[in-house]
Amino acid sequence: MLNIVLFGAPGAGKGTQAEMLLKKYDLVHLSTGDMLRAEIARGTERGKLAKQLIDKGLFVPDRMVVEMIEEKIWANKSAKGFIFDGFPRTIPQAEMLDRMLAENGLEIHAMMALDAPEDELVKRLLNRGKVSGRPDDQDESIIRDRIVVYNEKTAPLIDFYKTQGKHKPVKGVGTIEEIFNNLCAIVDRVATKEVA
Ligand code: AP5
Ligand code: MG
Repeated sequence: MLNIVLFGAPGAGKGTQAEMLLKKYDLVHLSTGDMLRAEIARGTERGKLAKQLIDKGLFVPDRMVVEMIEEKIWANKSAKGFIFDGFPRTIPQAEMLDRMLAENGLEIHAMMALDAPEDELVKRLLNRGKVSGRPDDQDESIIRDRIVVYNEKTAPLIDFYKTQGKHKPVKGVGTIEEIFNNLCAIVDRVATKEVA
């Protein structure tokens, strides 16, 4: 099983690249943002709490996303591997993920971190907001708040995965195709080691 964390700030291109990677490598996409938006659309209890927080650019509780991830992993036990997108987003989430995987003899093989400057992120998200209907993309101040939360709570995961030797930085600016090729080169290297 090949397990990849696709990491980056809001608007870095995680969702765009994840869609392309999962087709090429036949992996299962685990995006906590997509899962939460689906819960909101279904009007579940989780969705009700999540909506209040997401619309303000704040995180939902660690326990909630870890439970959702756990459910999806067990529902896809025979998958060739997973692409984690937007998860883990805090150190406790990363620790819980490692524990959950280790209990089943699994692990994360690489954390591919897309990097792009803040003004580029804001521009992309405001643009996407015109068509996505995502409430958290509508307002520049909420987008900037999401980036502040990312810098405070999520960026420390770079050191967490560096310590494990799994952090793979990737330039997140350029054409979607160029970035995809750089990501594929990393996945190919990691996958070869995994098989060897
Ligand atoms: P989530 O859905 O994960 O959103 P996000 O991290 O804010 O990231 P985005 O989905 O906005 O960006 P992306 O990196 O996927 O970029 P994309 O490919 O779409 O989370 C939403 C919220 O849910 C969070 O704020 C939080 O409240 C909650 N949440 C989710 N997970 C959580 C967790 N684990 N714990 C707690 N709370 C959680 O690209 C963006 C745009 O740029 C697109 O329009 C795309 O076409 C364009 N684009 C992509 N690549 C390029 C390129 N190379 N050049 C130009 N444009 C590009
Ligand atoms: Mg996304």
